[in-house]
Amino acid sequence: MPNATTSYNSLEEVLASIRGLKDDPLANAGTNIVISRGNPKARLLLIGEAPGPQENIKGKPFVGPAGQLLDKILQAGEFDPENDVYITNSVFRMPPGDDGKSFRKPNDKEIEFYRPFVFEIIRQIDPLVILLTGNVACQAILQKTGITSLRGKWIELDGRWLMPIFHPSYLLRNQSREPGSPKSLMWEDVREVRRKYDELLGK
Ligand code: URA
Repeated sequence: MPNATTSYNSLEEVLASIRGLKDDPLANAGTNIVISRGNPKARLLLIGEAPGPQENIKGKPFVGPAGQLLDKILQAGEFDPENDVYITNSVFRMPPGDDGKSFRKPNDKEIEFYRPFVFEIIRQIDPLVILLTGNVACQAILQKTGITSLRGKWIELDGRWLMPIFHPSYLLRNQSREPGSPKSLMWEDVREVRRKYDELLGK
């Protein structure tokens, strides 16, 4: 995993450094810094894409419609979203849309800029299992995309177990529960995450 340019001694130092960013590629967008929520002692870390409008207002990741679905997905795997998981993003400000009101996907330059900070968060949280939701998180951490073939497969990296999974926003756009549908595949993935997590923790 890459090293950030500065070496941090605690999660608080990393968070303070991100909060203090003034030269990041989205600084002029006028959107707020949104970093994380959940339990910093959790052994499960989830990395999303970027804050959306609700997150920009509330200052926490995954608190809008995708976040509500994410909490349900985690609960389906018997993970308590507040106690068992630490949740962050690949990009720490909402990328504004062309009209200045809506939002867009982060671009390569933005993902690249925030990447070392995401790795510092990983280092400080020291999770056993990392879930990468969607292509942006895969690009940030694995430097590859292709969520449809990456999802559901474990990748071992520096003693941690990473699994790409669909982004909850994708499931909101694909409501079918038929076998093989994104929702049913997500259900399989979260059960596998539970199994691996229990195995790693010797439960
Ligand atoms: N989608 C994300 O990837 N992250 C958020 O924080 C909200 C929506």
